[in-house]
Amino acid sequence: MKLIVERREATAASLDASVSGLVERGDKEEPLPRILSKDDQATRGLIAQAWARREVKGKRKEIAVFHRPDDKGRVILVGLGPRATLDAEAVRRAAAEVVRAVKGRSVRTVGFRLATFTGERLPSDLAVPALADGAVLGEYEFLRYRTSSEGTVEEMVVCLGEEHAREEAALRHALNRESEVLDAVLRTRDIVNVPADTATPEWLAEEARRLAKEHGLKLTVLDEKKLAELHCGGLLGVGGGSVHPPRLIVIEYSGGARSGKTVAIVGKGITFDSGGISIKPAERMQDMKFDKSGACAVLGIVRAAATLKIPPRVIGLMACAENLPGGSAYRPGDVVRTYSGKTIEVVNTDAEGRVVLADALGYAVDHYKPDEVIDIATLTGACVIALGDDMAGMVSTDDKLAQGLLHASSETGEPLWRLPLTDMHRELVKSDVADVRNSTDLKVAGTLTAAAFLETFVGKTPWAHLDIAGPAYTVPSTRKYQPAYQNIGATGFGVRLVTRYLENSGR
Ligand code: BES
Ligand code: ZN
Ligand code: ZN
Repeated sequence: MKLIVERREATAASLDASVSGLVERGDKEEPLPRILSKDDQATRGLIAQAWARREVKGKRKEIAVFHRPDDKGRVILVGLGPRATLDAEAVRRAAAEVVRAVKGRSVRTVGFRLATFTGERLPSDLAVPALADGAVLGEYEFLRYRTSSEGTVEEMVVCLGEEHAREEAALRHALNRESEVLDAVLRTRDIVNVPADTATPEWLAEEARRLAKEHGLKLTVLDEKKLAELHCGGLLGVGGGSVHPPRLIVIEYSGGARSGKTVAIVGKGITFDSGGISIKPAERMQDMKFDKSGACAVLGIVRAAATLKIPPRVIGLMACAENLPGGSAYRPGDVVRTYSGKTIEVVNTDAEGRVVLADALGYAVDHYKPDEVIDIATLTGACVIALGDDMAGMVSTDDKLAQGLLHASSETGEPLWRLPLTDMHRELVKSDVADVRNSTDLKVAGTLTAAAFLETFVGKTPWAHLDIAGPAYTVPSTRKYQPAYQNIGATGFGVRLVTRYLENSGR
């Protein structure tokens, strides 16, 4: 979708639809808000009539479409909910509702009247990227395997009008920045959505190669031979049951500042998680193609970092393998030796994410000596039980890093909640035969024992772990509880969040 800033009023530009936000009205009789008089003129009084009949209330998700009597397209009112709670997230959701409502209805260009989407706590430079988020993410469809589409909205225009005309340059900059990040999110969604028959570890390496080429980034792909030389027994163990061998993919953005810090971002890239010998039940097993979401988010983050030329150096590591129960699969009881030399007792082959991450984290801290490590992984079902399927869990050994990520989360609207890590959790992952075991006897605190396991492999480097098992993808059963900008399938969760964190922390 093309994103454009336009000085003209939306009702005066030639657009298929001109959209205004409407905050929720009270029960009292009030006149039509002055800010909507332009919309009312364009519809020759239809909006004032609808207002008088209380057909429009400004409730969230409410959409009212008016066809202009002069045949110059539509005027749309979208509900924003109460004025007191108007924030960027409300605007993101509203913009997505609009785009989804008009998609496939011969609407190719949509203009938003910026002045109707700002508020006391929502200045124009935050409202503009929020409109872009909602429109672009809401418009997204995964079309690779479909012969028909609902039709596309091709152009999204932020109309400044006289209220914001003077801010044109700054708002255009804000929109362009967001546009780069959104390209990265869509690319991530596109890759995550591809099923495991195509999206093998080597295919992900190909994707990384393409990205590296496009943006002049350094790329290293460690194949199964190299992994064996480096004693990456975790990746080799998990990938052993598949004919598609594992890969450790490292893509590097060298940073926009000479003295910038180095941040390693490590993603779980299980192209399909059947559970392995500890096989999963059949119900919704198809969703386990999304178990590579963390690694694909890493690609998106590095891409955004490079296009935005942010200050920190970013090392993206993707730990890719397919977890299948083949004749050469790893099994419960096996002990694998990882890159760092630490050994893992495999208790459950379905707790494979932490096993591949053990190698990737060990390699990241040893090889790149980063100032910070962030890992991102669809790691535990327990996290979905604890926090629901729209929120990621975070475990961190560094308060500053954790605060920075929480702050970024509040800005991008990708919900994140910090969880504790104590000696109790560390105790639970101790093994009788190896340094650590990948699953526990007690079925308690599954997200935290997984984090305790990972901590073993990061050493003293400041570290944050993001468990995105819930928000990485949307399924039909919970779709209606999700914002309109999360269609069914991959969400690209984490790309906007971590990019924002990196950007903020370089300031
Ligand atoms: N990929 C799953 C976690 C997951 C579950 C992601 C649901 C998305 C939705 C992970 O590899 C897994 O199977 N974890 C096990 C760990 C257990 C065996 C210790 C789990 O969460 O049940
Ligand atoms: Zn698993
Ligand atoms: Zn998994």
